[in-house]
Amino acid sequence: SFSEAEVQSARGAWEKIYVDAEDNGTAVLIRMFTEHPDTKSYFTHFKGMDSAEEMKQSDQVRGHGKRVFTAINDMVQHLDNTEAFLGILNPLGQKHATQLKIDPKNFRIICDIILQLMEEKFGGDCKASFEKVTNEICTHLTNIYK
Ligand code: HEM
Repeated sequence: SFSEAEVQSARGAWEKIYVDAEDNGTAVLIRMFTEHPDTKSYFTHFKGMDSAEEMKQSDQVRGHGKRVFTAINDMVQHLDNTEAFLGILNPLGQKHATQLKIDPKNFRIICDIILQLMEEKFGGDCKASFEKVTNEICTHLTNIYK
């Protein structure tokens, strides 16, 4: 669980990147798709996935980037309430494990890209303040597969 100080600094860090949720969520997805092209195989219904430029223009990628960031934002609002936090994360994890069949190694990949973007845009303190959140998310998502 998170101390009051951890909750506050994680929220502050997240607010910086969430201000531009659609752009930053899209940037995270594009980096995942270009650096780990196998992740594109889960999105066969997305059109225009051949280059980063195409993906940037894609309403499907943009919409999904926004959706992923909105889900994380909901979790960030409940860092001080483990039950509520898991109430959001567990059903999402169930869907990724059973219906979407996402290889769980990809959760670490997307979380590391979020942290990387935070560091590039807002510095090392921003990244450090959010690492515990991404660790919690990855740990719980991966545990669902066990
Ligand atoms: C769908 C969030 C990681 C692949 C979704 C949805 C959300 C979401 C909110 C929509 C769920 C719904 O409609 O009920 C997240 C979060 C992640 C994460 C918060 C980690 C921090 C991943 C990863 C992959 C992935 C790593 C694959 C590499 C998908 C796919 C869908 C989906 C294929 C369905 C998309 C569609 O049909 O339009 N995710 N996701 N997700 N996610 Fe994730």
